Amino acid sequence: MTEQPNTSRIIVALDFPAEAPALELVAGLDPTLCRLKVGKEMFTRLGPGFVSKLAARGFDIFLDLKFHDIPNTVAAACEAAADLGVWMINLHASGGRRMMETARERLERRAERPLLIAVTILTSLGEADIAEVGYSGSPAENVLRLARLSESSGLDGIVCSPLEAGVVRGAVGPEFKLITPGVRPVFASSDDQRRIMTPADALRGGADYLVIGRPITAAADPLRALRLIQEEIAAC
Ligand code: C5P
Repeated sequence: MTEQPNTSRIIVALDFPAEAPALELVAGLDPTLCRLKVGKEMFTRLGPGFVSKLAARGFDIFLDLKFHDIPNTVAAACEAAADLGVWMINLHASGGRRMMETARERLERRAERPLLIAVTILTSLGEADIAEVGYSGSPAENVLRLARLSESSGLDGIVCSPLEAGVVRGAVGPEFKLITPGVRPVFASSDDQRRIMTPADALRGGADYLVIGRPITAAADPLRALRLIQEEIAAC
């Protein structure tokens, strides 16, 4: 384990269909230069043992499982995630105040706890999609409302598009963390991301942490890609 505190604002999204290529990538990364995100696909396939392997290599882990259930079930799931020693976990803000408050209270009982982050409106949803499930207003209006609800329910931050980060930043406290995917460094292609920003622009716009996948994971030299992004954001 590294003794250096991790000040990196880059979270590398590990989206692989199997353990071997993920571990091969991780072996070439530096835990002082990034953190790692494990999502539903890898966790469902490989389970807590995979998370422990990554943590044993000194990496901070964002366990991106987006819990959404009754308050007691979500709080228990958050405790189970915290038992894995991860750095950050998340849930859906649409689960409501009581669900978020119960999860936060349960985590507060621990000597050490992960950061608890909310997903507001999935960026895959447009205005027609959210209207169909009964939300009125634009996605941006709903993001803002749910960001405020998350903050007043005791959460540590939200995941949002870099394009929404500025508006949300102006509406929440300075300690409230904004985590933004959909970021593309100047040197990388946009892949299938549509609403993108560069890492430097996202940080200047109010983001605290950047989730970056393929520009690092699919690079010929992932550590070099990570270092290039660190250079891009060094002045932010
Ligand atoms: O490869 P790429 O940089 O696009 O990966 C981004 C990561 O962030 C993926 O794990 C993706 O699922 C996640 N994500 C996203 N957009 C959101 C929420 C999460 O791209 N709105």
